[in-house]
Amino acid sequence: LDPKLPPYSTADPTSFAWPTARERWPVIITQAIDDTYRTVGSCDDAAKQEEGKKIVAELARLKYEVQHDRPLTPIRDDGYPDVAGYNKELEQLGPITWLNAPWLFTECYLFRRMSTSFTLSTHWKNYDVFARQKIKTFRSSRPAVLELAARYKDLVTQLRSQKQSAATADQQQQEDADALLFTEMCEVCLWGNATDLSLLTSLTYEDIQKLQGSEARRQAEKNILINDLPQVYSHLRAAAAKSANGGNKERRVDIVLDNAGFELYVDLVLAGYLLSAGLATTVVLHPKSIPWFVSDVLPGDFASLLNALANPRAFYETPTDEDELQGRKPEKLTDAQAGELAFLFEEWSRFHAEGQLVLRPNRVWTGPGSFWRLPAEAKELVEDLKQAELVVFKGDLNYRKLVGDVAWDPTTPFTDALGPLGPGSGLNILALRTCKADVVVGLKPGEDEKLRQTEGGGGDSGARKWAWSGKWAVVSFSKGK
Ligand code: F6P
Ligand code: MG
Repeated sequence: LDPKLPPYSTADPTSFAWPTARERWPVIITQAIDDTYRTVGSCDDAAKQEEGKKIVAELARLKYEVQHDRPLTPIRDDGYPDVAGYNKELEQLGPITWLNAPWLFTECYLFRRMSTSFTLSTHWKNYDVFARQKIKTFRSSRPAVLELAARYKDLVTQLRSQKQSAATADQQQQEDADALLFTEMCEVCLWGNATDLSLLTSLTYEDIQKLQGSEARRQAEKNILINDLPQVYSHLRAAAAKSANGGNKERRVDIVLDNAGFELYVDLVLAGYLLSAGLATTVVLHPKSIPWFVSDVLPGDFASLLNALANPRAFYETPTDEDELQGRKPEKLTDAQAGELAFLFEEWSRFHAEGQLVLRPNRVWTGPGSFWRLPAEAKELVEDLKQAELVVFKGDLNYRKLVGDVAWDPTTPFTDALGPLGPGSGLNILALRTCKADVVVGLKPGEDEKLRQTEGGGGDSGARKWAWSGKWAVVSFSKGK
């Protein structure tokens, strides 16, 4: 079912899989250990503490196995049916060890493995070991959050007054402005992905803040290597026109989410904009069901985000432990800022309450394999996605899964690399991806070679280093129906 090309492997010194397995995975497991340990320390339920210590020991064992290149062992049955699929694939792969294994499978296995330690417990079943990190980084993106909140309120207010006033003076001008706004919203949403927590092992908070402002976004436009947004806009406009002429009343846009915090915030900016601008009537969000790749959205992250917006002063002005330690006092929000955040909360919670903004978890998203398998292995999900005018896949991991995380020639058309999800599949797919791995498709001939020659691009080392840092992005569209 997967593409017939070699998958990226943790044994390949030229792949980003190599440092990922040797440096980043141990750091990620250590962070999970520290977090659990901290919770153990602050809880007064002895039974929970005991269990917590056991989980810490299991995670430490896992870290040892990764670092000492031990074999991957079958995942314990924790009552969820996906364990069987993981273990079956592990068996088919033959005995494999951590540092000589297919990257995509092994990384999914890592997070699935970690989650069993919690699910198999009594007191930690739904514990999100990455929640602290997620909320902390969200808080530290405050400048960008505030900037966007002001922009969002402004544009939604404008959209409303536009709707009320009849035909505007210059229609062409208006149409150009609408198209530009669509592009801006999608690009905000795209770059929100540049800053996920699994890469945070190498980025500082200052780096993150720099990546998130609007000036940074304008600068970054030249870093979008493929930009299919004009086609996507025409497609959504055409669907709206059809529905005005008696076609489908419901026009759904789905977003297969990636990270929580700032990225989820910008996903909601996009979702809210699409609804307000009449480019969609419903937006369905697809979160993960277990703590995943550190920062991915769980249903609880959606609730925490709305909560933070509902009480912005409490969220931003209450000193954190770290503030206390450093004797820092968080800056107060101005009334205007608090008002803008409250506006977002009202808008988004109303959409949510009225069923226009829906959260739809599915354990398929935390499976081990590429999305090439979905039509055969997740028929219901695929049928559901076909109902949408557009399915947006956010982020790096989703992109790797769409194209199978194999060594495609980078000039392969995106539509080919999607395999069974390409043209004819009934799915209209938009990938908004900042590049944080090796695989990339849809480039012009010679472009990869040129990028390799840029500073830090990999040169003649054989490694496609330019694609590892989130600096470059691809926005690729495939019309499947
Ligand atoms: O570690 C593997 C990886 O896919 C990276 O390549 C990437 O940095 C990270 O996980 C997840 O990125 P994203 O949150 O954009 O899917
Ligand atoms: Mg992620």
